Amino acid sequence: MKNVRQLVFKDITDLKGHLTPVEARKDVPFDIKRVYYITRVAKGERRGFHSHRNLQQVLICVSGTVKILVKTPYGEEVIKLDNPAKGLYIGPMVWREMFDFTEGSALVVLASEHYDEEDYIRDYTLYEKEARIYFTENEEN
Ligand code: TYD
Repeated sequence: MKNVRQLVFKDITDLKGHLTPVEARKDVPFDIKRVYYITRVAKGERRGFHSHRNLQQVLICVSGTVKILVKTPYGEEVIKLDNPAKGLYIGPMVWREMFDFTEGSALVVLASEHYDEEDYIRDYTLYEKEARIYFTENEEN
């Protein structure tokens, strides 16, 4: 799927447990300007319902599991994040929804830009219109 890919990080394991390093421009394809995390999501809650115009993000479920729906005008996919050593890269112009957070789950998000509400598209009809133009111009459909 365009502008979406799964990343596999190092999982350094010994008797003490697991350690996963994530370095900017090495393990994720951008400089990290912001980190946020989503925790204590109530059962059955669904989040997201937006796209970003420019922002790139990597989602890492460091505890528990969560499902991510990624969608463009050309297709959609559900990816289950269930491993702290795996990440989901989501580039510009991809609609996303997060759901089925398990109790105690923690979703860490690495972002390429500071928070900017102007970068969000929260209306699906507007998203689809802008996304068709974006993917046509980028010849990525
Ligand atoms: P939002 O991105 O809509 O969350 P989700 O897509 O997971 O449902 O953000 C929820 C609220 O948090 C919204 O009021 C904006 C605010 N927020 C920040 O202030 N800084 C941030 O870095 C993020 C991601 C959100």
